[in-house]
Amino acid sequence: MSQAIFSVFLLVLSFNLGGSLAAEVWQTWCVAKPSTSDSSLTDNMDFACDHVQDECNPIRKDTSNPCYNPDTLIHHGSFAMNAYYQKKGRHHWNCNFDNSGLISIKNPSYGSCVYTGGDTFMNLTSAQGKWCVATPSANNQVLQDSIDYACNHVDCSIITIGGPCYDPSSLISHASVAMNLYYQATGKLDSSCDFNGSGLIVIIDPSYGNCKFEFRQ
Ligand SMILES: *[C@@H]1O[C@H](CO)[C@@H](O)[C@H](O)[C@H]1NC(C)=O
Ligand SMILES: *[C@@H]1O[C@H](CO)[C@@H](O)[C@H](O)[C@H]1NC(C)=O
Repeated sequence: MSQAIFSVFLLVLSFNLGGSLAAEVWQTWCVAKPSTSDSSLTDNMDFACDHVQDECNPIRKDTSNPCYNPDTLIHHGSFAMNAYYQKKGRHHWNCNFDNSGLISIKNPSYGSCVYTGGDTFMNLTSAQGKWCVATPSANNQVLQDSIDYACNHVDCSIITIGGPCYDPSSLISHASVAMNLYYQATGKLDSSCDFNGSGLIVIIDPSYGNCKFEFRQ
């Protein structure tokens, strides 16, 4: 009986500690911008895996490795970039990769594939902003569903032919633009970047070239 009360006490104590620290300690991850070219993804992956060595094993070519599938450059590149970011101490510049990295405050892990995370000291209240993008492992069906869902609610003309975000014409790049338009238009609630678990909230602007990712205060 007294042990149970003590457990409750510990639970309340740790909850309170967690609450007061929440403003400054966040788990963060690094992923590639959805618009990153295949050649840059390959360069990032080679550079990162050269530094982290064995930590790239989960994506190496063997279907028994937990992160080999989906076998896409956006996921493999992101996985390697994240391993590098974590190993180097999670400074924002460790996720820069020539402006092709995004720091995520949502975990990109899926199934048995773990993107290692870690505590990051930062003040999100003073962060520049938040945007929503598709997670690197999202499959084409989920990406298409997200585009259909978002564009049913917001004007997606910027991802149509001739629009500033049409290129690169990949599902993950188009889906990310559409998901972000929806997220910004619906008050940036965590739930408006869920998209059946395929959305990541990032704190670096995913804009590229002439494609401006919407940002509302
Ligand atoms: C976070 O930043 C905001 C705005 O700059 C500031 O008002 C607030 O006191 C900071 N919070 C912490 C815990 O440092
Ligand atoms: C979530 O998945 C369901 C079932 O596949 C689909 O009908 C729905 O459109 C999806 N929602 C979003 C926001 O993509």
